[in-house]
Amino acid sequence: MSDKTPVVLIVDDEKSMRHSVGVLLKKHAYDTAEAADAEKALEMLREDGPFDVILCDMRMPGMDGQEFVRRANQMGVETPIVVMSAYGSIDTAVQAMQNGAFDFISKPFKVEEVIIKLGRALAHRTLKDELEELRRERRAAFQFADLVGKDEKIRAVFDAVEKIAGYKTSVLIEGESGTGKELVAKSIHGLSGRKGPFVAINCGAIPENLLESELFGHKKGAFTDATADKEGLFARADKGTLLLDEIGEMPLALQVKLLRVLQDEEVRPVGGTQSYKFDVRIIAATNQNLEEAIKEKAFREDLFYRLSVFPIHVPPLRDRPGDIPLLVEYFLERHQARLGVKVKGVRQKALALLMEYPWPGNVRELENVLERASVLAGGGYIEAEHLPEKLRSPRVVDIKVPSEMPLAAGNLSVKQNSRVLEEIVIRKALEKTRGNRTNASKLLEISHRTLLYKIQEYGIDD
Ligand SMILES: Nc1ncnc2c1ncn2[C@@H]1O[C@H](COP(=O)(O)OP(=O)(O)OP(=O)(O)O)[C@@H](O)[C@H]1O
Ligand SMILES: [Mg+2]
Repeated sequence: MSDKTPVVLIVDDEKSMRHSVGVLLKKHAYDTAEAADAEKALEMLREDGPFDVILCDMRMPGMDGQEFVRRANQMGVETPIVVMSAYGSIDTAVQAMQNGAFDFISKPFKVEEVIIKLGRALAHRTLKDELEELRRERRAAFQFADLVGKDEKIRAVFDAVEKIAGYKTSVLIEGESGTGKELVAKSIHGLSGRKGPFVAINCGAIPENLLESELFGHKKGAFTDATADKEGLFARADKGTLLLDEIGEMPLALQVKLLRVLQDEEVRPVGGTQSYKFDVRIIAATNQNLEEAIKEKAFREDLFYRLSVFPIHVPPLRDRPGDIPLLVEYFLERHQARLGVKVKGVRQKALALLMEYPWPGNVRELENVLERASVLAGGGYIEAEHLPEKLRSPRVVDIKVPSEMPLAAGNLSVKQNSRVLEEIVIRKALEKTRGNRTNASKLLEISHRTLLYKIQEYGIDD
C-alpha cells in the first residue's frame, strides 16, 4: 500500500460546502482538490487524475451528479465515487449507484459517516489496485513471449528458445499435435532480431508435385500450369525465418533436394538454370518420431542431422497439469478480449475435470473447449456441465489398478477397503502433481485442508 496522502476530489457547486468538507477532510489526513461543477471535474480527471476518491454532490446546475457518474464511468475512471444527496432523495442516490457510484451519503451528513465511507472507498480502491498488480506480476512470471507455463518442462523450452533465438542454427521442434510447436517457432523468430518475415509451410498439406515449386519457386513454362515465374518460400522468407512444419511428411526425393539447398545456401527454382543465394533461418517441426521414420527409411538420416542441430521437445499437456489453471485464465482473458464474452470464473468442479483430462489434442484442444464453455456460461461461471461429455464421463485414467487389489489386512470390508483405495488415489494425485498439494486437492475434489489431514492420517510423506 502506498503511504502517500490520499487525495479526494470534491465536486460541489456551493463554495461554502466545498470549503467545510475540505477543512473536515484535511483534519482527517486527506488532501483535497475542488471542482465547482461536473464539467470541470471531468476535465480534471482527464488532465490531473488520478484522484483516490471522488465526493460529488447530486444536485448541481448544468451537469448533475447522475450524469457525472455516468460520464466518468464511460471514460473508464476507476476512482470510486461517493455521491451526496439531500435527505429524502434516496431514489436518485440508488440510481447513481446503478450507474456506477460506489456509495452515497445523505445530507445533512454526520462527520463520522463521511470519514467511514471515504475510508471504505479508499480501501476498496487500494485492494483492487493490489489485486491487479498481483495478477500482472504472476502473469509476467509465467509468461514468455506468447507462451504461458510454469512447469519446469515448459520452462526448459522457454530457456532453449531464449538461448538459441539469436543464432542462425537450425532448430527441430518435436511434440505432439497442439502442444505449441508453431508458437515456439514464432517466439524464436520474434526474439531473433531477424528483419525478414516469419513464413510457415505445412509439408504434409501440399501435394507432392507442388511442394518443390512452393518451396523453391519456378520459372514460367517449367510445367504445364506454370504460366508465369513464381517466387518460392525460401525467397519470401529471405532475412527471416522459414518454418517447415510436419517435416516428416516431406517426400524422400524432395528431402534430398532440401538437404542440398541447406548445405549450399542457395536455391534453384524449378525449371530454372540459375541459383540464388538466400539468408533464411530454418526451423523444422514434427509430431512424428523422426528416429523411427529413419529406421523405416521414410526419413533421411543426413537431413535429420542437418535439421536437428538444436532439438527442442515441447511436452504434452498431460505431463504438466499444473499449467492448466494458468492456461485457463489466459485463454479466458483472450476470449474475452476477442469475442467480448465475459466469464466470472471457473467452478472448482469444472477445473478439476479440466486438470484431470489427458488432452490428446493438447493446448489447442483446451483452447477450443474453453471457447465453447465461455459461450455456454453466458456471463456466469463455467460449470462442469459446460464442458464436453468426454471430460465429464468417468474414465479409466492412467492409474494402473494392480491386478490384485491390496486388501485391508486380508478382509473384504467395503469401509476399510475404501480407505485403501483412498490412499492409493491420494498418492497417485500427489505423484501426478509432483507433490503440489493445492493442485492435488483439486484433482481429488477435496479441500486443501482435508487433503492435509488425510496425508497425515495415512502417513504419506511426499
Ligand atoms: N504454452 C502456451 N501458451 C499459450 N498458448 C499456447 C501454448 N501452447 C500452445 N498454445 C496455443 O495453442 C494452439 C496450438 O498451438 P500450435 O499451433 O503452436 O501447436 P502445434 O504444436 O503447432 O500443433 P500442430 O502439431 O497441430 O500443428 C495455438 O492457438 C497456440 O496459440
Ligand atoms: Mg503446427
